[in-house]
Amino acid sequence: MKIILLGPPGAGKGTQADILRKKLNIGKIATGDMLREAVASGTPLGKQVQDIMAKGHLVPDKTMIDVLFGRIHKADCALGFVLDGFPRTLAQAEALDRALAFEDAAIDRVIELKVDDEKLMKRIVGRYACAKCGAGYHDSFKRPMQAGVCDACGSKEFIRREDDKAQTVAKRLETYHMQTEPLLPYYRVQGKLLSVDGMAEIEEVARQIDEVMGMGKKNAKNS
Ligand code: AP5
Repeated sequence: MKIILLGPPGAGKGTQADILRKKLNIGKIATGDMLREAVASGTPLGKQVQDIMAKGHLVPDKTMIDVLFGRIHKADCALGFVLDGFPRTLAQAEALDRALAFEDAAIDRVIELKVDDEKLMKRIVGRYACAKCGAGYHDSFKRPMQAGVCDACGSKEFIRREDDKAQTVAKRLETYHMQTEPLLPYYRVQGKLLSVDGMAEIEEVARQIDEVMGMGKKNAKNS
């Protein structure tokens, strides 16, 4: 199963991609995470993209296409993948379609997380992650079970993203509407676009994704 999650910054793509990865045993490819790792490690890619990301702009298509194609054939993607953050432009979407068609494959489903821009700001500026294992949390919506201790690995160190400051978030939202939103009609005409209410609670969004993908009944039968 090859799935794309589409939605503006803070729509919950990363959150739902984690859920789908575990449920379907497929790879999760988060291009933003890959770029942040490159920045943190000081690689040539990291040096190239650091300023671009800090300003809330998009990294050039050619760079992103190379980053993605170097990742989709890794072992964890043997049964498919869920894309979080790619494609973000028509050029990226067309390059992905061409590359998959060359292997007699195709994207199966594109899930749009429909959200309200104004409420996204609160979501984004409130989020943080474990500095050790990367598990994600939120000041209001997803706190660790024990305050100040990561549920997943027990670490007590947390980090906030450089581009999660209000001014940069506003730029990222603008970039989404200008450059990424045109992908909705692109996938709608392919008959692949499914939409869910991304403003619902995390578990409810996941349930709606199961439902629109026709997985609800299958899971109920299997459980
Ligand atoms: P990227 O890392 O992809 O950032 P983004 O798209 O801006 O998305 P976010 O990670 O901010 O949000 P999300 O939708 O994953 O939401 P999340 O699940 O975290 O990209 C960063 C930068 O890298 C870009 O700006 C660009 O420069 C560059 N880049 C990356 N890919 C690129 C590409 N293909 N081309 C060009 N440039 C590229 O949720 C947010 C918070 O809300 C969390 O705290 C979460 O716990 C909480 N939350 C989630 N769902 C809910 C819910 N239903 N209810 C309440 N809270 C929720």
